[in-house]
Amino acid sequence: MPVTDEIKSRIDIVDLVSEAGVKLRKTGKNYTGFCPFHANKRTPAFVVWPETGTWRCFGECNEGGDIFKFVMKKEGIDFKEALQKLAERAGVEVPTYQPEKPEQKEAYDHLRKLLEDALIFYRSHLRNTPDVLTYLHEKRKLTDATIEAFGLGYAPQGFDNALKHFTQRGYAEQDLFDAGLLSENESGKRFDRFRHRIMIPIRNEKGDMAGFGARIVDPNDIPKFLNSPETPIFSKGRLLYGLDRARKPIRTADQAVIVEGYLDVIALHQAGYENVVSPMGTALTEDQLRLLKRFTRRIVLALDPDTAGQKAVLRGLDAARAAMDHEGELGFDARGLLRNEARLQADLRVATMPDNLDPDEIVARDKEEWPRLIENAKPIVTHVMETVASGRDLKDPKTKNQIASQVLPLIEDLPNAMERDTYRQQLARMLRVSESALIGTQAQGPRARRQRPTRRETVRESTPVAVAVPSSQKVEAYLIGVLFRRPELLYRLDRKLGQYGLTTLSAQDFEYTDYQMLFGLIREAVEQDQTEHHEFVVEALPESLRGLSRELLAQTEKLDPVEEKLVEDLLRSVKRIRFDALNQMLTQYRFLQQEAQDKGDKNTVVLYQKEEVKLMQMKRVLDELNHKMSLKRLE
Ligand code: UTP
Ligand code: MN
Repeated sequence: MPVTDEIKSRIDIVDLVSEAGVKLRKTGKNYTGFCPFHANKRTPAFVVWPETGTWRCFGECNEGGDIFKFVMKKEGIDFKEALQKLAERAGVEVPTYQPEKPEQKEAYDHLRKLLEDALIFYRSHLRNTPDVLTYLHEKRKLTDATIEAFGLGYAPQGFDNALKHFTQRGYAEQDLFDAGLLSENESGKRFDRFRHRIMIPIRNEKGDMAGFGARIVDPNDIPKFLNSPETPIFSKGRLLYGLDRARKPIRTADQAVIVEGYLDVIALHQAGYENVVSPMGTALTEDQLRLLKRFTRRIVLALDPDTAGQKAVLRGLDAARAAMDHEGELGFDARGLLRNEARLQADLRVATMPDNLDPDEIVARDKEEWPRLIENAKPIVTHVMETVASGRDLKDPKTKNQIASQVLPLIEDLPNAMERDTYRQQLARMLRVSESALIGTQAQGPRARRQRPTRRETVRESTPVAVAVPSSQKVEAYLIGVLFRRPELLYRLDRKLGQYGLTTLSAQDFEYTDYQMLFGLIREAVEQDQTEHHEFVVEALPESLRGLSRELLAQTEKLDPVEEKLVEDLLRSVKRIRFDALNQMLTQYRFLQQEAQDKGDKNTVVLYQKEEVKLMQMKRVLDELNHKMSLKRLE
C-alpha cells in the first residue's frame, strides 16, 4: 500500500477535522459543519465523508479533498510537509529517497543558531538606540508589535561589536564569517559586516534563519541595502522575504503578491495584507516562482511604477513563464519560448502603483486602496502591451509594427486558443489595425502551431469489451495508474471525452491530493515534447510521490494491449468518478437546501437550487454517454 493510503487508512478524518476546531454534526452517513476556510458562514456547508476520507465545502469555497488537502489548507503547508505531519500522527514511516547528509545539516543548524543569536543581539541594540526607533515609529509608521514580529534590529557603529560579542560567547570567528556576519579586507582582517544599519532578519519559507538585509540609517551611506553574502543557507535567488509569515495567508487567499522592498512587505503585513513577499534586490528568479508555486498559482506582481520596475517585469517575464512551465527547461528568448510547447500554468498579473508611490506609501495614504489595486492587476500580456505602447505615437505605422512584433510572440505562445484570440483582438484594437494585418506583421508570417500527430485508429473493436473497471474506490487509482504509465493516452481520452460533449480530464476530477499532483505532472508531460512523456513525469516526480508511483506501476503491469480498449476503459473510469462525484454532491445540495429551507434562508435555497440544476445537467450528459457506450458495445 502506498504510504499515503496507509496514512489515510489510519487517520479518522472526522477526528482530524474536529480537532482543527470544526464542530461536526452527524447527518446520515456524513458529518456537516461550518467551513473553516471561509468567513461568511450562514449555513453549515462543510461536509465530511468518513467512508472515503474526504471533505468538501459546498459554500463559498466549493472545494474539497482528502486529509492531506485539509491539513495543507488549514496550516498553509505544502504536500510534503502535510505528508510528514500526518505520517507522524499515523505512526507511519515515510521512506526518504534522498537522505540529507547529517554532518551538513548539523553545520547549517549551527549557523542558523548563530543567526538567531545575532537577531537577539541586534534587537537589543535597537531598544537602546532611540533615534532609530523613532525613525521606525514615526517615519515608517511601524508599531512595536510589527518591529517585534519581524525581528527588526540595529547594528551599531564600529567594526567589532558583533565580532567581540560572539567570540566572547564561544563562537569561532570562522563561524561568524561563514554566517555572513563578518567581512574581510585584502589583508585578511575580519570585521563586522553590518554597521550603523537597520537589521532585517530573513528566514526561509519554513522560518529558519537564513541571513539579514540591512538598511542604512545615514542617508549618505552606501549601499542603501546591504544583504548577507551568499552562504550555504542564504541564497538570494532562492528565498523570498516574508514567505515564512506569508505562506499561510497566501494559501488562504490562494493568491500571492510580490512587492519590491523589505519595508513594503512589513508595512503591508502591518496593514493586514499578509499574502505579500518580496525578492531581495534581484530580479525574480525561476526558483523563487517555483517556491511560490507550492502555495498558489495566482501571483500578482506589484512593482514600482518607474521604468526600471517596468523593465524588471519584462525581464522577469521569461523567468516567470519558465518556472510555471515544466521544471528544468528554460527558454529565455522569444523563439525559445515558442519552441517550448509547455504551457504557462499560473495566473500571473501585474499591478501598477499609482502616483509614483511605493506600496508602503500607498497603505499609509489609504489602506483600502491596496485591495483595489491588486484586484485591478492586469494579465501579464495586457500589461506588456500597455507598457510597450505607453508614451509612443500609436499613429505611426513603424511604431505599430514594432509594438506588434514585440507583443505577438508572447500572444502566439499562449496555450489557450481563446486567450490568444482575445489578446490578438485587444492588440489590434489598441493599434487600430485589423487582426489580419496584425498577423501579417510577423516576418515569417503567422506561426503555425504545431499539430500533434493524430494517429489513425486502425484497431477496430471486434468483440464486446468486458467491463474492466475495478471496484468503485479503485477507479481513481486505476485511471491515474494507467495514465502514469502511458501519459500519451491522455490525448485520446480527452478527445473521446470531447466527442461525448464532456470536458477534458482535470486534476479536479480526482479526489485525492496525491493523485491530483500526479495528474498535474502527467498533464505537463504531454504538453511538452522535449522528453519522453513517462520519463518526464518520473523526472519531475517529487520525493513524496515516489512510493505511490512505484505502486501504480506495479498495479498497471498488465494492460490491455489493444489501445482502443484501454482508452474505452479510461473513458468508463472517468465517467464513473464523475458520476460518483455528481451523485455525492447532488445528495448533499439537496440536504443543504432542505436545511436552508427549514431556516427560512430563501437566498441560500435559491443558490443551492441553481447548483442542483447545473449538476443535473451534467448528469444528463453523462447518462447520454452511458447510453451511447452501451449501444456501441452492442454494435
Ligand atoms: P528600494 O530602494 O525601493 O527600497 O529597494 P525600499 O525597500 O523601498 O526602502 P525604503 O522605502 O527606501 O526604505 C527595493 C529593494 O531592493 C533591494 C532591497 O531588497 C530593497 O528592499 N535593494 C535596494 C538592495 O538589495 N540593495 C540596494 O542597494 C537597494
Ligand atoms: Mn520604499
